[in-house]
Amino acid sequence: MTLARRLAGTESGLSLTLRPFNVSTMSLPILPSPFVAYHIPVLKDAVVSLAYGAKNLSVLVDATVGDGGHLEALLGLVPGSCRVLALDQDASAIERAKARLSEHPRFESILWVKARFSAIPGLLNELGMPQAGFILLDLGVSSRQLEDPGRGFSFRHPGPLDMRMDPLIHTSAKELVNTLSEKELADILWGLGQEPRSRRIARAIVEARRVHPVESTSALAQIIERAVGRKGRSFNIHPATRSFMALRIAVNDELGELQRGLEEAVCKLGPCGRIVVISYHSLEDGLVKRFFKARDDGSIITKKPVRPGLEEVRANHRSRSAKLRCFEKEGQGSCI
Ligand SMILES: C[S@@+](CC[C@H](N)C(=O)[O-])C[C@H]1O[C@@H](n2cnc3c(N)ncnc32)[C@H](O)[C@@H]1O
Repeated sequence: MTLARRLAGTESGLSLTLRPFNVSTMSLPILPSPFVAYHIPVLKDAVVSLAYGAKNLSVLVDATVGDGGHLEALLGLVPGSCRVLALDQDASAIERAKARLSEHPRFESILWVKARFSAIPGLLNELGMPQAGFILLDLGVSSRQLEDPGRGFSFRHPGPLDMRMDPLIHTSAKELVNTLSEKELADILWGLGQEPRSRRIARAIVEARRVHPVESTSALAQIIERAVGRKGRSFNIHPATRSFMALRIAVNDELGELQRGLEEAVCKLGPCGRIVVISYHSLEDGLVKRFFKARDDGSIITKKPVRPGLEEVRANHRSRSAKLRCFEKEGQGSCI
């Protein structure tokens, strides 16, 4: 299996769609966001309404707490007896969400844990919560992480080439870019970013690093821009967009983690428990769709994925590619 396919967690069905300008969003201005106060929760109403419809709200898990926007909305509807577990693999996200919700009347009922969502079963066991009634996975990075130059996620902000959601994990984007072979780099750019000029970009990176290690987001963005030229700037997409996304997915093993996380989370759902997943690119969404379809222990609540409306996209451009899917575990009797 190639490196990219191993990282993608699947041997077949790789297909990636970037949706920077579907018809409804094409004419919308992209507002610069030099400072993001809080990440704006995507498809918040749909998440709340799916939680509201859940029959079993004894334990709620927000497995990607980020800035706590979804969590805040969910706290408003869960019963007083509901135990709430808030996870994120980024310790600074947990701290921000905690500070944001510190005045909330339900604050004391929240258990905050810095962990990856594939650790959900072990955590629930440790905490004496055998099953969960509602689990939310809102994938990818938050606006805060993306806009923080020190985290190195974005070609728009000069900073160290890092991209680790959990700064304690071993491999950063800098390591990948400076140590992988040309073929391995090209495989990642193609397999995880479907970058059509993957080979040319990989060659340019390898040539550039012979002179000097590639250490910053701006250095990598310049190498890519030089390699693909103006033609790379197709349809308003910066030529480095796909490469940066592919590297981020590889650094954080996002698809492997999603596959493991879905398996573990669904195992821990109690009767009539619901899992909601919001994904932002087609590799993730395809994986979620296939995973839910293959199960015979429940039903898919969202026959079609829920997408943001024009108003939401206008207010929050980052929501434009979101797709939400929900699966409900079967009950002992019925979930109606
Ligand atoms: C899109 S943001 C979530 C935003 C959040 N729903 C809100 O309303 O503010 C995604 C968050 O999930 C975290 N994350 C991504 N993958 C994760 C994983 N495998 N385990 C735990 N946290 C993860 C990221 O660190 C980030 O903070």
